[in-house]
Amino acid sequence: MGTLEKGRDADISACVYILKSDIYMAFLRFFSLFLIHITLFTSSCFAGDPFVNYTWEVSYITASPLGVQQQVGLFFFFFPLFFYLFVHLLMWVIAINRAFPGPFVNVTTNNNVVIEVLNKLDEDLLMTWAGIQLRRNSWQDGVLGTNCPIPPNWQSTYQFQVKDQIGSFFYFPSLNFQRAAGGYGGFIINNRPVISLPFATPDGDIIIMIGDWYTRNHSDLRKTLSDGKDLGMPDGVVINGKGPYRYNNTLVPDGIEYESFEVHPGKTYRIRVHNVGISTSLNFRIQNHNLLLAESEGTYTMQQNYTSLDIHVGQSYSFLVTMDQNASTDYYIVASARFVNESLWKRVTGVAILHYSNSKGKATGPLPDSPNDFYDKTFSMNQARSIRSNGSASGARPNPQGSFKYGLINVTDVYVLKNEPLVMIDGKRRATLSGISFVNPETPIRLADQFKVKGVYKLDFPNEPLTGSPRMETSVINGTYKGFMEVILQNNDTTMQSYHMDGYAFFVVGMDYGEWTNSSRGTYNKWDAIARCTVQVFPGAWTAILISMDNVGVWNLRAENLDRWYLGQETYVRVVNPEITNKTELPIPENVLYCGALKTMQKPQKTSSATSITGGISKMFFTLLMVLFAAVSNFC
Ligand SMILES: *[C@@H]1O[C@H](CO)[C@@H](O)[C@H](O)[C@H]1NC(C)=O
Ligand SMILES: *[C@@H]1O[C@H](CO)[C@@H](O)[C@H](O)[C@H]1NC(C)=O
Ligand SMILES: *[C@@H]1O[C@H](CO)[C@@H](O)[C@H](O)[C@H]1NC(C)=O
Ligand SMILES: *[C@@H]1O[C@H](CO)[C@@H](O)[C@H](O)[C@H]1NC(C)=O
Ligand SMILES: *[C@@H]1O[C@H](CO)[C@@H](O)[C@H](O)[C@H]1NC(C)=O
Ligand SMILES: *[C@@H]1O[C@H](CO)[C@@H](O)[C@H](O)[C@H]1NC(C)=O
Ligand SMILES: *[C@@H]1O[C@H](CO)[C@@H](O)[C@H](O)[C@H]1NC(C)=O
Ligand SMILES: *[C@@H]1O[C@H](CO)[C@@H](O)[C@H](O)[C@H]1NC(C)=O
Ligand SMILES: *[C@@H]1O[C@H](CO)[C@@H](O)[C@H](O)[C@H]1NC(C)=O
Ligand SMILES: *[C@@H]1O[C@H](CO)[C@@H](O)[C@H](O)[C@H]1NC(C)=O
Ligand SMILES: *[C@@H]1O[C@H](CO)[C@@H](O)[C@H](O)[C@H]1NC(C)=O
Ligand SMILES: *[C@@H]1O[C@H](CO)[C@@H](O)[C@H](O)[C@H]1NC(C)=O
Repeated sequence: MGTLEKGRDADISACVYILKSDIYMAFLRFFSLFLIHITLFTSSCFAGDPFVNYTWEVSYITASPLGVQQQVGLFFFFFPLFFYLFVHLLMWVIAINRAFPGPFVNVTTNNNVVIEVLNKLDEDLLMTWAGIQLRRNSWQDGVLGTNCPIPPNWQSTYQFQVKDQIGSFFYFPSLNFQRAAGGYGGFIINNRPVISLPFATPDGDIIIMIGDWYTRNHSDLRKTLSDGKDLGMPDGVVINGKGPYRYNNTLVPDGIEYESFEVHPGKTYRIRVHNVGISTSLNFRIQNHNLLLAESEGTYTMQQNYTSLDIHVGQSYSFLVTMDQNASTDYYIVASARFVNESLWKRVTGVAILHYSNSKGKATGPLPDSPNDFYDKTFSMNQARSIRSNGSASGARPNPQGSFKYGLINVTDVYVLKNEPLVMIDGKRRATLSGISFVNPETPIRLADQFKVKGVYKLDFPNEPLTGSPRMETSVINGTYKGFMEVILQNNDTTMQSYHMDGYAFFVVGMDYGEWTNSSRGTYNKWDAIARCTVQVFPGAWTAILISMDNVGVWNLRAENLDRWYLGQETYVRVVNPEITNKTELPIPENVLYCGALKTMQKPQKTSSATSITGGISKMFFTLLMVLFAAVSNFC
């Protein structure tokens, strides 16, 4: 009897607990939209793999990573002109739950990730997950070829499983040049306990997002490009959304907030570095410390020490760094513009601080040198070629990654994709790929297929670059399901390009200067090439990649340089399983948004107004202040 009653009591209290926790959740949802709540369901209470849920509000906040953000105070009250100038240094950056960079996603292989996104911007939004393979699920990719944009004040939920992946990736907003305003964050997939790391478990994890930065906002930058102009030199490099440490009083103004990482002597940290910038290749280095390269975008590398590494736009790396220096001072962490005249580009340098917990002083003196190879084109390329995969390290699955002998598989399709300097098409300055400047369709390609909407795109992307005059089209690559595709990226421009493919990791088998020919295949690395999702193509050079077409869907292949992407240097690869089955692609999600030819299918959504009012008001208030002070300062 006693036990039964005890059982009932337990049941009742469990119910009460659930009730309470529901109210608590409602409370949380209502009052702290700025809070992320992560809930882990263990497999005992949820069939299958655990869920990790996030709730994100994407909105503008004011910040001035490279400017002077101090107390506005009375000073500005009395000197409106200063305030006016000051306000011009401030800008709206895109934040997630009021944080810039956004919170990092921390999940484990095979977890189901659910991210509820509320768009509080004044324009459309889509979130994309660079490097997350979204197996069988291009529905969740967050680019215009697969998804309709989320309108302002709308909510939309992404749900996908991080199947068979481990490593360091990131997410960012894919539309309207928004990445230039932030909105990005790290995305870590940890190994399951049954899978061992190919190195000792690090003592800590540090995420560093580096990127070039303009003080003009993303709508201004967009306009510059649409007007046919260049963006010009960036105003700086931000590290985790913060400006440079004041390493030189002449070069760096006072009062800039900088990033600092506290570490403990003797410990080894895994430092994950992502270039989330617009178009600048960055050289990353830590004063007096070796960078032991361990991972590149989900593949374990042969571990090698580098004093600095070139990280191109969209690329991610993990380094193991041991705190083996004396603590007489702090040390500089530097990300500086690459392949530029450094005496002209001095301001395009990000500087953060590595602070030993027992450090006795500030970092002083000059920054550690970047590679001095202005006239040596091969140094950086040789460095890229030196990155090899460790075939004996376990990947996400127990079988070693290297057991997949990509070098022995026959290629089924060959595409030479060539970019050229910007061209004029119909009076517009555009970027091209193989002579085609991609035009985003009104109806996403994947949705058009699903509902058999005709005429949205053409499946005719050429295997060889078109000669003739360039054109604007929605031209897509016809991928062969279960094929093995060879893609040669030929860069006929004078600037560095990096390319990214969604849904896949590809093998980087070769790169060299000059024009690719059939005989270039003789130089391919057929054994331990790195598999990754973003690769650089040097100016006047080519890079060859091999892709195993095993992920059904419609996948974006693009220049990761934001300006080029914006101007049309992209296409999609459509991979269809001719056999109709739910095993190779997940069914269309219930919450899918409709637009273009399908917009009548879209049900209206309740727009939430709770925060838009405060957000709107604070923005209005600020604009009003700006106008007021502008007017006043005109009198002075
Ligand atoms: C997490 O997301 C899944 C799928 O939408 C849902 O079933 C589950 O209830 C969510 N958990 C929480 C705590 O919101
Ligand atoms: C960007 O700046 C311009 C002024 O230079 C301003 O009119 C516009 O509202 C700003 N846009 C955003 C999204 O902050
Ligand atoms: C990420 O999650 C893992 C496992 O859930 C945890 O051990 C780790 O501490 C988390 N990392 C950070 C930096 O919070
Ligand atoms: C490769 O991975 C194995 C297995 O984890 C590890 O023991 C070895 O140190 C790694 N080799 C290099 C050069 O990184
Ligand atoms: C700071 O930078 C200026 C300009 O490049 C240079 O002339 C000066 O020597 C630097 N100062 C120090 C202390 O390094
Ligand atoms: C890398 O450098 C560290 C010193 O910073 C050294 O202890 C380690 O042995 C080096 N590892 C390799 C693989 O060269
Ligand atoms: C600490 O290391 C720095 C750089 O390696 C060196 O210049 C300095 O003399 C060292 N100081 C001590 C107290 O060992
Ligand atoms: C870099 O620019 C400076 C200043 O314009 C110029 O004097 C120098 O020759 C340039 N260096 C190179 C390597 O082109
Ligand atoms: C590749 O093609 C060659 C000749 O066309 C053929 O002999 C070989 O068996 C093929 N290899 C595989 C793995 O299919
Ligand atoms: C696309 O490729 C498949 C074979 O993979 C072929 O059957 C089909 O005809 C191609 N479609 C077009 C439009 O070329
Ligand atoms: C671009 O292509 C043309 C024609 O093939 C070639 O002459 C030129 O050298 C190329 N330029 C670069 C930078 O690759
Ligand atoms: C695939 O799944 C959808 C939705 O769950 C279902 O309606 C459809 O019948 C399935 N198709 C096949 C071929 O199993």
